[in-house]
Amino acid sequence: MDFQTALESLFAAEGRRDPYPAYEVLRSHAPMFAALDGRWFVTTHALTSHLLRHPAVRVADAAVYDGYWPDWRENRGVASIVQSMLLSNPPDHTRMRRAAAATFTARRVAALRDVIAERAADLIKEMPERADFVSAFAYPLPIAVICALLGVPDSDQPWFRRQAADLTVVLEPISTEEEMRRADAAGRELEDYFIGLIAERRREPREDLTSALASEGSGLTGSELLSNLVLLLVAGFETTTNLLGTGIKVLLEHPDQADRLRADPELAPAFVEEILRYDSPVQFAARYAAEPLDLDGGLHLPAGADVNLLLGSANRDPERYPDPHRFDPDRPNIQPVSFGGGAHYCLGAPLARLEAQVAFPMLLTMLPALALAGEPRLRDRLVLRGFAELPITTG
Ligand code: HEM
Repeated sequence: MDFQTALESLFAAEGRRDPYPAYEVLRSHAPMFAALDGRWFVTTHALTSHLLRHPAVRVADAAVYDGYWPDWRENRGVASIVQSMLLSNPPDHTRMRRAAAATFTARRVAALRDVIAERAADLIKEMPERADFVSAFAYPLPIAVICALLGVPDSDQPWFRRQAADLTVVLEPISTEEEMRRADAAGRELEDYFIGLIAERRREPREDLTSALASEGSGLTGSELLSNLVLLLVAGFETTTNLLGTGIKVLLEHPDQADRLRADPELAPAFVEEILRYDSPVQFAARYAAEPLDLDGGLHLPAGADVNLLLGSANRDPERYPDPHRFDPDRPNIQPVSFGGGAHYCLGAPLARLEAQVAFPMLLTMLPALALAGEPRLRDRLVLRGFAELPITTG
């Protein structure tokens, strides 16, 4: 595959199915290059890690959006993401992140272990002999967990799947007008939903994250509160759904490794890190250069450059992970960039890890005959990688 074909393939459904051969071509071409209307791409682990932590490499925030799309606030899907911490820079980012981190404590996450284990056990017991693993497990588990965390009633859970899927398209580098219209509608419905929930929790606070964030002391403005609740909800389960779907497929395709995990659930943390490295649920992180940068190896990034950090490519960089295409949970020092790095490092990483570490051993032990059964269907997305449908049998 030549360079141009590799690059174009990432933007076509066919190429997205398995982007790793294309990443390899791009990485051998250069650690960083400009292409496609001046967009920059970063391919290596070292440079991705460096730029994620560089203070002059920022996210495109509301001020940047104002510069090229003055009406962005009218699309409520876009607005809810742009006004959240994900697309804010200091000092706003620092304030929002601090407020959310103060409520999203290690204690709150640890307290969810029982919720995760109980829900996972119920879903496994209810699983029909032939099932779509995504609908039967990978979707309902994370949504139940994030809803328990936020204090969203169980009865509202099914409704969120569609809203979140429509909204997260705003994270993709390219989307159609129809997709943007649906993102707007989803943003409006989610905002209306959370306005109601915030009012209820202000009247009668509970032990949930919505009550904590909506309290006087959080320091968030009204629109920040709303955007960050929407962000937590959508960031909290689409990605984890993808980790569970991808992970079970990888395990079932490596039966010897699955047997090891079945025999020793203590291995779960290393397995989950290797699954995250091997096929990252988030493939891109977008940044822009606030000033011109001179980097190691004579590389130069001009001011204002849009930069796509190819997380999936960084995770398969042979300089960092020898024999990168091999699934090997025994690798030393697995630290994938799948949760990003630096100031925007995933706030939910401990929760996502916990869900996967509890779920995989339970699935393998409670369903010893679990097997793939037919052609899976990938979601047609570039940034959020995962299955729309994964047929399995349990007996
Ligand atoms: C496997 C599951 C997950 C993956 C792969 C993932 C990945 C990521 C990545 C790559 C980022 C950084 C984006 C960037 O730097 O541009 C991020 C940020 C974030 N994630 Fe996650 N995430 C996962 C699960 C979760 C969960 C469960 C939650 C919440 C309950 C969550 C909440 C967030 C938030 C709030 C941010 C923004 C942090 C900030 O901007 O300071 N994520 N996530």
